[in-house]
Amino acid sequence: MKQIKRFKISEALQLNNFGEEINVKGWVRTRRGNKNVGFVALNDGSTIHNIQIVINIEQFGEEFLKPITTGACINVNGKLVESQGKGQTVEIQATEVEIYGGADPTTYPLQKKGHSLEFLREIAHLRPRTNTFGAIFRMRHHMSYAIHKYFNDREFFYFHTPIITASDAEGAGSMFEVTALDLSNPPKTKEGKIDFSEDFFGKQTNLTVSGQLEGELGAMALGAIYTFGPTFRAENSNTPRHLAEFWMIEPEVAFNDNVDNMNLAEDFLKYLIGYALEHCKDDIEFLAKMYDEELVERLRFVVDNEFVRLTYTDGVKILEESGHKFEFPVYWGADLQSEHERYLVEKHFKRPVIMTDYPKEIKSFYMKHNEDGKTVRAMDVLFPKIGEIIGGSERESDYDKLMDHVKAIKMNTDPIWWYLETRKFGTAPHAGFGLGFERLMLFVTGMTNIRDVIPFPRTPNNADF
Ligand code: 4AD
Ligand code: MG
Repeated sequence: MKQIKRFKISEALQLNNFGEEINVKGWVRTRRGNKNVGFVALNDGSTIHNIQIVINIEQFGEEFLKPITTGACINVNGKLVESQGKGQTVEIQATEVEIYGGADPTTYPLQKKGHSLEFLREIAHLRPRTNTFGAIFRMRHHMSYAIHKYFNDREFFYFHTPIITASDAEGAGSMFEVTALDLSNPPKTKEGKIDFSEDFFGKQTNLTVSGQLEGELGAMALGAIYTFGPTFRAENSNTPRHLAEFWMIEPEVAFNDNVDNMNLAEDFLKYLIGYALEHCKDDIEFLAKMYDEELVERLRFVVDNEFVRLTYTDGVKILEESGHKFEFPVYWGADLQSEHERYLVEKHFKRPVIMTDYPKEIKSFYMKHNEDGKTVRAMDVLFPKIGEIIGGSERESDYDKLMDHVKAIKMNTDPIWWYLETRKFGTAPHAGFGLGFERLMLFVTGMTNIRDVIPFPRTPNNADF
């Protein structure tokens, strides 16, 4: 084949130098046509749109063209021409074709269109080639970039916190242990327990559930930081909103109080959703058409409207007085379920809600207590269709008060001695939050199952791909 400049299909569709020869490469989405001419819809992942390749059958020979079926990968030189067909501006009249790889129609799982999302989860190695997952994974990229851009533009520093830790940041979540010991024959202590002093790190370690505690160390030096990395929770919660491995963004800011924290969270979410509307137009339009007609409207609405700010106490009152029958009971002190959160957001206020001042018993040890002695300066952002999308708080920065909190819950502070030292040396008021990246992706794509917004979901009994 002649060596000529390759254009990504996203670029080729914008060209207007008709008559010139260009090169495109990609995977065949469909092939149709008749005895004389073949029409191939080619996609290379750069855009949701395909480019049409027009092939003169006689020129290439039917036998040669046979492997060009759905899923095959081809390399095409051809003349750029203005398209006759509806819905496309340019097409390519093939002059040379190379077949990189066929895809036997009798065994290729994506030969037919219209598979269910459940089925596509079972072929996670191939689903990125569908329109739906192409759109979602391109958007994941754009949202990741927007997150870095948001913080970089505001002089926050990306701070890398460890994946393997010896502490449990939340004091609650179940963790995955990390070990290099031979599990079939581990060394034992005199008491018969596993002797982790002989393990790789000389102690028991696990995958992190959150980068927050280490992030706070960064904030106490660099002022404003954020983390953006994978986090792991071994809870057996098989819901459409939980993953065992998910990505979290955790900004932490020195001198911020809980109101600053809420302002940052609201501005951040609005920026990200606005970014999606602006930069992911084609993919959002496709997803809206296929799955969720109100998607664009819902995204605009969140960008344009102020979030409601509401205390937990007031929220519980509204829920108690609603007369609505919930599966889980509501009372002051209850850990709110997603059905409660969604009632407030979708039925009562019809807007995102930032709920604050939760009972201290249902929140983490590091949160700053209010003067009432009962509640803490926590804030959760609750979204339509999702429930909790962000969780955060102002932190307890006073050493003695923090020690009181940990003693009250009989927490072992040995593994976090370094965290406590921040309160001894130059302590400062500070606040931060965690945004679940896949919860954000659920919202901006309009998908309803969190397994469908991450390329390789990790959930109970699922780590195949
Ligand atoms: O509310 P969480 O547990 O808060 C923290 O981890 C704090 N350390 C954050 C901080 O203050 N820096 O988790 C934060 C967010 C949740 O609001 C939710 O969006 C997401 O992380 N999340 C999950 N997403 C997917 N699967 C799971 N199992 C999740 N658990 C939490
Ligand atoms: Mg939370």
